[in-house]
Amino acid sequence: MVRWGILGCGRIAGKFASDLKLVSNAELIACGARSKQSADEFAAAYSIKHKHYSYEDLVKDDEVDVIYVATPHSHHHQNTLLCIEHGKAVLCEKAFAINYKQAKEMIDAACSKKVFLMEAVWTKFLKPFNRVKQMIDEGMLGDIKSMQLNFGFKPPANAPQRIFDPELGGGTLLDIGIYNVFTTLFFLGKPDIIIASMTPASTGIDAQCAATFNYKNGAIAQLFSTFLSDTSTEADICGTEGRVHLSHRYYTPAASIEYFNGKPETKQLIYTPENEEGFGYQYEASHVCECLEQGLTESNVMTHADTLLLMETMDEVRKKAGIKYSVD
Ligand SMILES: NC(=O)c1ccc[n+]([C@@H]2O[C@H](COP(=O)([O-])OP(=O)(O)OC[C@H]3O[C@@H](n4cnc5c(N)ncnc54)[C@H](OP(=O)(O)O)[C@@H]3O)[C@@H](O)[C@H]2O)c1
Repeated sequence: MVRWGILGCGRIAGKFASDLKLVSNAELIACGARSKQSADEFAAAYSIKHKHYSYEDLVKDDEVDVIYVATPHSHHHQNTLLCIEHGKAVLCEKAFAINYKQAKEMIDAACSKKVFLMEAVWTKFLKPFNRVKQMIDEGMLGDIKSMQLNFGFKPPANAPQRIFDPELGGGTLLDIGIYNVFTTLFFLGKPDIIIASMTPASTGIDAQCAATFNYKNGAIAQLFSTFLSDTSTEADICGTEGRVHLSHRYYTPAASIEYFNGKPETKQLIYTPENEEGFGYQYEASHVCECLEQGLTESNVMTHADTLLLMETMDEVRKKAGIKYSVD
């Protein structure tokens, strides 16, 4: 069994804890929170044996093999370095860090300590995403010439305050726009030119962010994220031989895949989600367990280079759009 600890007992931590129960070779044995109340409540909710009332105590737990870092992005750098310092493998939530510099320090620390580190880009482990990849590899789209990606929602009153707080890495790009950036990089690679703009919220974070990625081969991707409207959260990937449409919420297991290759009547439903168990985080967790069982220090699916390219690209979008954080 791979023994897991969770650092930071917030919302995503709860979903991940619930999905870990679906991974046969994983056991959630510990959690760590900043307060006694948070750790006690979380441990009770998910039947966790070891509850720690500080992150420092969690990383010293000898029985823990790997820690899932589930704090706001602003804290991933310090929390991940703390885990690595104590020899713990880490699965760190996205956005992996605030900027490329922090991400590089985290990866360098993991490499020098020879501990496993991966960014929790769960989409890369999901069925719809991998089916689209297969269709592209089989040539069903021809050469990809454009992509349109949209991710927007109006945060409800009980949404975590971190998403608006600049000191906690708030803003659409790092929180949800990252899915647009990741997906574009995966299917089109590193852009040659980025154009971007944003609408500031009252706190200064980006309430909306629009980016265009241009490629020397003529391909163009349009990426949009917003906290001001409920938008479609769908994606189109368009090639010389056909188009793929990923339905609402395109980055999750709930997405279905439609394929068009000419006239409207040629539309085919390629994939519809079945009754999936869990939220979909079990696939990345299972992959981490496999990596650890094989003694790996880096995933071959979500590599360190993938994370660095993602951070470098988001730094460039931020530079063009004028999105700044105090740690920059
Ligand atoms: N993969 C996905 O689908 C997905 C979905 C949502 C979020 N996320 C990512 O997961 C991370 C956490 O998001 P979340 O929605 O779970 O946030 P959240 O509900 O606000 O929880 C974050 C937790 O971090 C801890 N924390 C440490 N320092 C903090 C600080 N200064 N302010 C607030 N909380 C602090 C707190 O736990 P304790 O008090 O227990 O220590 C808090 O409950 C973010 O990086 C986000 O992008 C990923």
